Amino acid sequence: MQTSLMTSSRLAFLLVITICSCNYASVESVSRRSLLGNGLASTPQMGWSSWNHFGCSIDEEMIRETADALVSTGLYKHGYKYVNIDDCWAELSRDDEGKLVPKKSTFPSGMKALADYVHSKGLKLGIYSDAGYLTCSKKMPGSLGFEELDAKTFAEWGIDYLKYDNCNTDGSKPTARYPVMTRALMKAGRPIFFSLCEWGDLHPALWGSTVGNSWRTTNDIADNWDSMISRADENEVYAEYARPGGWNDPDMLEIGNGGMTKDEYIIHFSLWAISKAPLIIGNDVRNTSKETMEIIANKEVIAVNQDKLGIQAKKVRMEGNLEVWAGPLSGYRVALLLLNRGPDRTPMTGYWDDIGIPPSSTVIARDLWKHKTLKESFVGNLTETVDPHSCKMYILKPIA
Ligand SMILES: *[C@@H]1O[C@H](CO)[C@@H](O)[C@H](O)[C@H]1NC(C)=O
Ligand SMILES: *[C@@H]1O[C@H](CO)[C@@H](O)[C@H](O)[C@H]1NC(C)=O
Repeated sequence: MQTSLMTSSRLAFLLVITICSCNYASVESVSRRSLLGNGLASTPQMGWSSWNHFGCSIDEEMIRETADALVSTGLYKHGYKYVNIDDCWAELSRDDEGKLVPKKSTFPSGMKALADYVHSKGLKLGIYSDAGYLTCSKKMPGSLGFEELDAKTFAEWGIDYLKYDNCNTDGSKPTARYPVMTRALMKAGRPIFFSLCEWGDLHPALWGSTVGNSWRTTNDIADNWDSMISRADENEVYAEYARPGGWNDPDMLEIGNGGMTKDEYIIHFSLWAISKAPLIIGNDVRNTSKETMEIIANKEVIAVNQDKLGIQAKKVRMEGNLEVWAGPLSGYRVALLLLNRGPDRTPMTGYWDDIGIPPSSTVIARDLWKHKTLKESFVGNLTETVDPHSCKMYILKPIA
């Protein structure tokens, strides 16, 4: 799976180089400008979405309670500001003017009132639609053919974020359908974060930066180890394409939903953070356990994700089940993740050579899960023992 992805990614990359053999750099800088135009993705987006925990069982009261809980738990102070309603929020039929209608039984007050409520808490409201005739649940219409009207409606309601799915389409390519919504949003009169969800089908890392603020690189995540870790792998292939304005998206977080161990959820959060992935939590935040809070409210790990350099980490060394991931941070620092995917407790080493620090540099290391700066300093490498299905995450700072 990974091999074939890498191969096709490399092919696609070559293709881009070939098409733009004229001047790749200038094409890039043009897309950079249009991207930063909406100013909404200078760091990866953070928030909550209804999908992973609730699926279609959503209503306005639960969304309001979730907004309340983001505030009362303090999660919003850590940066979780988008409250995103996923699939199943609308009636199956549009109204006489062709507008989407919030489902009367579950969203009786309508979206404008809900947006006002969410905004009154200092948060932002996200919504969901689809670049097809019906959304994936088939319980509500998609926006294909109604892009301008829907974008305008979302703006009128005060919506701040749109996740745009890829089900039940006319069979045309995402590159034909997604930019139509991009242009509609640009004309809608309100900055709306545009999250592309075409599951990585047509390598959106290659074209997403001119179309949206983030793009899914994978199929949907499920709340288990294999699903989580394989999405991190698939997403890593596209590391070169993430940057302020546009991010690779390996799908939303499952932390707190019960299908993985605490150590595996720590890996999940660490990998998403170091990969500059959107941090969209997906648990019932009204009922967040202490253990889940320790993970999703880890300020030091969040700071890696939100670092202003915006460079996605990569695997720099792989030996069987042992992987070293690293990426640069602002201030000449480096984020380092020692990831043990195997069943045995094993010593692991991050070598300066692999991670872009001059080999003779002396480095101090901050353990981001123990919240401790290690007493000793390090030259050439950092070696620590890592438990099975566990990780250690550090910020390394050269001091000499
Ligand atoms: C709250 O979470 C716990 C597990 O952490 C679960 O056992 C309980 O059923 C949840 N309560 C509600 C109301 O969902
Ligand atoms: C790591 O560096 C220390 C000190 O420079 C050295 O003694 C040790 O052999 C190195 N470890 C590995 C695994 O290379």
